Amino acid sequence: MVTNDDHAAVLDTSDAWIVERTGIRQRHIAADGQATASLALGAARAALERADADPRDLDLIIVATMTPDHPMPAAACQVQNALGAARAGAFDLNAGCSGFVYALAMGQAAIEAGSYRSVLVIGADTMSAVVNWQDRATAVLFGDGAGAVLLRATDEEHGVLASLLGADGAGDELLMIPAGGSAQRASPETVAAGLHTLQMNGRQVYRFAARVLPEAAEAVARDAGLSLDDVDWIIPHQANARIIEAAAQRLQMPLERFVINVDAYGNTSAASVPIALCEAADDGRLQPGQHVVLVGFGAGLTWAAAAVRWAAVKPEVQRATLHRLWRELLYRWAGLRTGLVRGINRLVGRLSTLWRRRKHGE
Ligand code: UT7
Repeated sequence: MVTNDDHAAVLDTSDAWIVERTGIRQRHIAADGQATASLALGAARAALERADADPRDLDLIIVATMTPDHPMPAAACQVQNALGAARAGAFDLNAGCSGFVYALAMGQAAIEAGSYRSVLVIGADTMSAVVNWQDRATAVLFGDGAGAVLLRATDEEHGVLASLLGADGAGDELLMIPAGGSAQRASPETVAAGLHTLQMNGRQVYRFAARVLPEAAEAVARDAGLSLDDVDWIIPHQANARIIEAAAQRLQMPLERFVINVDAYGNTSAASVPIALCEAADDGRLQPGQHVVLVGFGAGLTWAAAAVRWAAVKPEVQRATLHRLWRELLYRWAGLRTGLVRGINRLVGRLSTLWRRRKHGE
């Protein structure tokens, strides 16, 4: 965990400035050896636990992230493998901080199309890997984290009622990591210039966020046939408490109906909405049958919103214990299998090199 005082010890900033301008008090940073896939895996396991679901029943795994472990392959494939989700397709989705809500809409659409029955949607980001720790304007804002939900086909009247996605690429330069992609390839010069770290025009992104958050919340509620009075909770992307307060004012909704945890985690990008959603569900604020509106906004520029009628899954305790043991077994087997497959692949690689050398008399 990194507190504001930890930042103030090395940067020209203060706890008072950060709390007053953002509402952030601390953020969590991935441990050594942890990266986005391992954070995503933790959230995925927790979601399967809560739903008492078998990983082998998953049809699709979507990881919303802009900080995958590697440019390729997708972090979602690492999660798929570690879960032992043998039947699942897996891909990453990059819509910046809107990513989780984008992925939720995609998961919902896949189920509605009828081809998929069980979709694991994860938001995960390791922002500490891309933040410039010397830049006080961004370093103090971000944290690492992951959250996940399991979507399942049902005939009951709950789940995602409506969603909307938005983008305006003209605002791309307001929030970007300039180098390391195909446009500005990684080189000693790009590294020296700090172009692999996140650059943001905070004030302009603030204005954009303060506009789209209430607009998207209102529009998606309307699309779902709900008035704002019918909405029990709004769970916005956690970038800045002031943005959320401004949205509450614009929507004329009491701040108490917004889930806010930016103080404890900072901005965890695609992870922020699912972390807040899971916290509200776990601590009992979010009750079955209630309506919740999720809103994301961020790099792209992008925004996305979803109106959800919440349903709680209460696994039957005795069966759940057996299922938990079964999942544990599956995870262990997945780890063992990974070691075996990688070992065999390396061995085959070495043997075929040796064989080729022999053939050519080297
Ligand atoms: O998740 C993606 C979406 N991201 C966002 O939604 C972020 C949106 N933007 C924001 O949340 C805010 O714009 C910030 C928190 C980034 C900045 O807050 P602000 O109230 O807009 O501050 P500012 O950028 O207007 O800067 C005000 C002053 C500047 O000094 P001068 O030029 O007035 O002398 C900054 O240099 O505050 C200074 N400043 C700081 N001072 C102490 C900027 N960062 C810091 C800092 N500590 N960490």
